[in-house]
Amino acid sequence: MVNINLRATYALLTNTVKEKSDPQMWQATIYTLFPNMFPGPLGQSIAGKAMEQGIWKLNAVNIRDFAMDKHKTVDDTSYGGGTGMVMRPDVIHSALSAHAQPGTKLIYASPKGKPLTQSMIRSWLADYPNGIGILCGRYEGVDQRVLDQWHETHGLEDISIGDYVLSGGELAALVILDACVRLLPGVLEKPDATTIESFELDLLEYPQYTKPQIWNKTVVPDVLLSGDHKSIAAWRLNEAETITQNRRPDLWQRYEANQKPVKK
Ligand code: ADE
Repeated sequence: MVNINLRATYALLTNTVKEKSDPQMWQATIYTLFPNMFPGPLGQSIAGKAMEQGIWKLNAVNIRDFAMDKHKTVDDTSYGGGTGMVMRPDVIHSALSAHAQPGTKLIYASPKGKPLTQSMIRSWLADYPNGIGILCGRYEGVDQRVLDQWHETHGLEDISIGDYVLSGGELAALVILDACVRLLPGVLEKPDATTIESFELDLLEYPQYTKPQIWNKTVVPDVLLSGDHKSIAAWRLNEAETITQNRRPDLWQRYEANQKPVKK
């Protein structure tokens, strides 16, 4: 059995991120105690160039500006005891209320969140044309009441970038932003390339080769030099399937479940 549809799709996929109908520029609003960490690495390379070109903009909101006392207090001890400090709900609520925009996906970066996936990134870009807001926690986290309230009223979602604990949400926010910005229309020179890379179609990417054709006595696979696009697509699909099966049984299971095999 061969899935002909998938093979053709693999060779021919085009970018599926919707063009924005709204002329408003895509904006990332980051709620943080460390606004100087932004844009950080996103001021360089692809994302930095896209920012210069006016494809996206950044608003790093300093949560401390919303503190209510003269000491600019943003956190306090945890009810019930424990060593860490917890960010106050009143301060967080004021910061979010001052900057939350309609048409924007709101995220709380947290190791307790749903694991981030490529398809989440694509759906946020399609469904929230105005951009993304990311709340970055520090210390032991954020008072649960303000999170619960914003989950309910504004669809705030807790998102984790992996099963490890960072010292705050800022690095996670940079990761999430990078994954979003590179998919914005006009950012990549060849947007088609984004649909045949790892995690699209629940497959890891096939191996890539470039010049020289012979390096260190090793050669590029013959099929890639054949000019036969169908054979190349079939070879790449097979490689992608093999590597996914070996390295990521979780993805492989999802991929297999989504196949609708066509009998030859
Ligand atoms: N903050 C701390 N650790 C994190 C993680 N793994 N993902 C998202 N935000 C975090």
